[in-house]
Amino acid sequence: MQEKLSEIQNQAKDDLANADSPEEVEKIKTRYLGRKGGVINEIIKVIPGLPPEQRSSTGKSANILKNEIGKWIEEKKEGFNTSSEGSVTLPSPGVKSTGGVFDVSLPGEHKPYGRKHPLTQTIDEIKEIFRKLCFDIEYGPEVEHEYYNFDALNIPADHPSREDFDTFYLGNKRLLRSQTSTVQIRVMEKKKPPIRMIAPGKVFRPDTVDARHASMFHQIEGLMVDEGVSFSDLKYVLTLFAQSYFGQDIKMRFRPSFFPFTEPSAEIDISCSICNGKGCSVCSQSGWVEVLGAGMVDPNVFETVGYDPEKYTGFAFGMGVERLTMLKYGIDNIRLFFENDLRFLSQF
Ligand code: PHE
Repeated sequence: MQEKLSEIQNQAKDDLANADSPEEVEKIKTRYLGRKGGVINEIIKVIPGLPPEQRSSTGKSANILKNEIGKWIEEKKEGFNTSSEGSVTLPSPGVKSTGGVFDVSLPGEHKPYGRKHPLTQTIDEIKEIFRKLCFDIEYGPEVEHEYYNFDALNIPADHPSREDFDTFYLGNKRLLRSQTSTVQIRVMEKKKPPIRMIAPGKVFRPDTVDARHASMFHQIEGLMVDEGVSFSDLKYVLTLFAQSYFGQDIKMRFRPSFFPFTEPSAEIDISCSICNGKGCSVCSQSGWVEVLGAGMVDPNVFETVGYDPEKYTGFAFGMGVERLTMLKYGIDNIRLFFENDLRFLSQF
């Protein structure tokens, strides 16, 4: 009889080891411990018919085995509650485990990577080009005092060119800056020459929105001041910049122009890469797109910031970040930058 019991013990152990679902464990429980027809009960039933000297020891062993199998079954069930084969319980950081099942075979949650806006990418790229030429990066406020947007830039209150740089007025001589040239003044007020700097940032103008214009856009201002800086330095730096940004084959043209804070002044056009110079809506059918204003710093500006115009000369430039980006990637509408449509943004 003892042999029979240890056979049952081994069999029950094997059966439980092979069970891979709570339902199967339930079946095993009925098979071994069931009141009617359960293996253990069948043994207990035959005890009275055994020779008297075997009865009590067999009864004891059968009871021990019954409890043992009962304990194994409970342990196995417990195992299914906290984990199952191929699964691990992973409490989230900082969260108390609720004993839930973490199924490693489930597909992961897709977290799309963000990326920089194309205009930020352009600004970063241009900053890098000028960093190599030892230009510092400077920033100025978007809400400006009238003095920095106009007066200090040689545009007195009654000067007609105020209209070219018209903006949104906030009252109390405050306005949204309409050009990053404000930063030239702020930097020159603080530092003595030599100065090499660029200043990226947002500017605002009450322009009617069309394919090329928006009421907010980005500029990068540039300024270099030292003894003996000439127009050829300006031309060299801007040519180097255009070639680094667009490639060696880029076509540029300098047109004489007027800005109140530079003399002489120039506007610099880049051949339109959208129509390859044939003429389209972005270049107003001219084949060229104006991307830069530039010139030699007007002596009046130097006097305003307390530099000696007899000693120092310098050049300044301001470029439109949206236009540079449009030309580089063949984007024909400035509105795309501000609509935040991921179908557009995710191409960069
Ligand atoms: N601030 C001018 C503009 O917004 C550009 C410019 C900057 C021109 C510096 C000359 C020198 O159009």
